[in-house]
Amino acid sequence: MAGEATVASEARPSFLARNSFLLRRLHSLSGLVPVGAYMVVHLLTNASVLNGVASFQKNVDMIHSLGRALPVVEWVFIFIPLIFHAGYGFVRIYDSQANAAEYPYPKNIRYTLQRISGMVAFVYILFHVAQLHHLGFGQFDAEHATSSAARAIGSGFWMQAWYVVGVLACVYHLANGIWTSGITWGIWTSPAAQRRADYVCWGFGFLVAVIGMSALFGFGTVDVEKARAQEDRMQKARIEQAGEIEEAEAPAAEATKAP
Ligand code: HEM
Repeated sequence: MAGEATVASEARPSFLARNSFLLRRLHSLSGLVPVGAYMVVHLLTNASVLNGVASFQKNVDMIHSLGRALPVVEWVFIFIPLIFHAGYGFVRIYDSQANAAEYPYPKNIRYTLQRISGMVAFVYILFHVAQLHHLGFGQFDAEHATSSAARAIGSGFWMQAWYVVGVLACVYHLANGIWTSGITWGIWTSPAAQRRADYVCWGFGFLVAVIGMSALFGFGTVDVEKARAQEDRMQKARIEQAGEIEEAEAPAAEATKAP
């Protein structure tokens, strides 16, 4: 009897194996929304640097106008889903059966590249957050958005090359991931539908890659000193405007207090 009980407990599948249906779908969903959607918006915001210092600064100000809610939004919609996606991603990489070396068909190569790009994205995102976010070295200064980002990202050939590799790995991973998610959710099942989805995903990937590279080009060509001077002027104008509003509101407040 004791022997049977041991065999039964040994045969019980692990938590991950028992819940793999749900976990795979949550993994897929988290990669699409919010992580993938956020990534596209983030690259678009960064590419607005091509419109000039004021344009990028206004976008950053809008995001930071969330104030104390910003860390909550960041953790709920970005960090926690990303940590889950990457964590379960590593489980799937550990379990994967890559066969691109023996059978170098495009789909097998893409299967392997999806895993490699996930690992590159992991290292790159860790580095990027540690470099710019206040959780790490905090080189990004929201009041001097363009100049601080340009100084950090544009600091030499190797840093720029690393950003190109990291952004392209994330873009490939998302574009190919959208294709594989169509299989996960049973959206494109026939070979013809999968071919059509191929065109759409490659087109999407190309577009997002252009947006990402434009952002890097934009930061790489900023004149940091000039940008900083312009940000200082914008900052001064904001403070003066806030002062004028306070002065204008003060008599009104006093008038309401009067008996
Ligand atoms: C920029 C951040 C990321 C985005 C936007 C993203 C997006 C996606 C998407 C949309 C999928 C497709 C899900 C499906 O096939 O149903 C996917 C799959 C996957 N991701 Fe990510 N991901 C990101 C980061 C990571 C990281 C850091 C890892 C960890 C190494 C990772 C590992 C994986 C793995 C292993 C798959 C499974 C691919 C397959 O089933 O063929 N991902 N990702």
